[in-house]
Amino acid sequence: MKPLFWKLLLALAALMAAGAALGAFASQGRDGWSIEEFGILSSLRLSELERAPADPSNAVEGDADAARLGKQMFADPRFSRNGSVSCASCHQPDKAFQDGLPVGQGVGTGLRRTMPLAAAGHAPFMFWDGRKDSLWAQALGPLEDQAEHGGSRLAYAHLVRAHYRTQYEALFGPLPALSKLPAEGGPLGTPAQRAAWAAMREDERREVSRVFANIGKAIAAYEKTLRYGESRLDRYIDGVVNADRTAQLLLNAQEKNGLRLFIGKAQCVTCHAGPLFTDQQFHNTGIAPRTPGRPDLGRGAALAALLKDEFNCLGPYSDARPEQCEELRFLQADDHALDGAFKVPGLRNAAARSPYMHAGQLASLREVVDHYRRAPAAAAGHSELKPLRLSESELRDLAAFLGALDSPIVEEAAGKRQ
Ligand code: HEC
Ligand code: HEC
Repeated sequence: MKPLFWKLLLALAALMAAGAALGAFASQGRDGWSIEEFGILSSLRLSELERAPADPSNAVEGDADAARLGKQMFADPRFSRNGSVSCASCHQPDKAFQDGLPVGQGVGTGLRRTMPLAAAGHAPFMFWDGRKDSLWAQALGPLEDQAEHGGSRLAYAHLVRAHYRTQYEALFGPLPALSKLPAEGGPLGTPAQRAAWAAMREDERREVSRVFANIGKAIAAYEKTLRYGESRLDRYIDGVVNADRTAQLLLNAQEKNGLRLFIGKAQCVTCHAGPLFTDQQFHNTGIAPRTPGRPDLGRGAALAALLKDEFNCLGPYSDARPEQCEELRFLQADDHALDGAFKVPGLRNAAARSPYMHAGQLASLREVVDHYRRAPAAAAGHSELKPLRLSESELRDLAAFLGALDSPIVEEAAGKRQ
């Protein structure tokens, strides 16, 4: 009898200790968060963010000289049809690398909204529809897009030879001789540019495309240096983790309630997960197209383009070995399940960058949370959202919470040449 009695007493003591620990957890300065909430909160901190994965398709990605060259090119409006559009025209450094417009405005008007660039290198696929698989391949898109920079790759190669020759050759080796080639030419663009391109020899086209790809690689090296600094939320969560009551004052009661809804009842964190507030996937959330009756298929229409892109990871201008292109090799080209799906945008700095969604369809965060409450049917494919039972004040709290994600953008020194 006696040993059993002691065992029971010990078990009871252990139970009481565990209960006390739980109670202590709640009361000991964790600002009222449950253990489960505490786990999710911890996962949102910037300090939890791993380094962006290296891109094997870009050999100069970590090179400080490449980043310096890319930064100059990023802001150089000569890389455009009319000499007045650079990447920085839309991705404005003083506006968190955005422009505040519903759709991009370059030499013409685009169809989608300008995306922020900090931490873009964490995503396996670029653009709202993910039709590019690296930062360098992405950069080549706007350069030849008729509504953005509107130039041709041959004109850009001439420009590099005229203004960036020394820097370029130190990184990528000798530039090809271009003097016998016309001023303009490329496979996209005006009929005259396409005809000039078609008239060139195959090896000339390849050499020019290589210079073009290298412009993208230098710009990507620069973009990879852009990362987020800590937001008020990061400092608040640190305060919860370290039981630091002063830091716990960094969010007000409304923002804390919004955070509780974000990671709980409103289920935002299922897609807006981790320190960047994105799962880096594509989801259909039933955002109405900008032009009624003309739905944008988003991811569903991008896969085929990605697979046949000459600048993808498996293409001739990539520095990767085929087995390093896993993301691309395991893609399915005809996945209609992704019709109407768009990239989940990270939410850092969201409050500062209205209007929202892939074509700036929603004007304010209040409209955004209301969209999630209503969960309307999608114009293309099927929305994954279910209507939310949230009161007026809960909607306001949720929108207020998003304002706590103001994160400065830091330019980090690129890694030393290896
Ligand atoms: C006319 C405005 C405009 C210009 C100029 C422009 N962009 Fe963009 N950028 C956009 C728009 C709009 C999108 C989204 C387009 C889409 O999804 O179809 C975008 C998307 C991106 C993305 C994808 C980010 C992500 O998270 O997926 C990157 C990276 C980017 N741009 C870099 C650049 C670079 C580098 C340049 C210069 C070579 C450039 N952009 C020039 C408007 C512009
Ligand atoms: C099923 C996945 C999913 C869930 C759940 C989800 N989102 Fe989103 N969110 C997205 C996608 C995808 C987009 C972009 C949609 C588009 O442009 O068509 C987006 C866009 C946004 C944007 C706009 C950001 C920008 O830069 O334009 C905000 C803000 C936002 N979501 C907040 C929330 C909040 C708050 C919740 C919870 C109520 C939530 N999201 C739940 C997937 C999701």
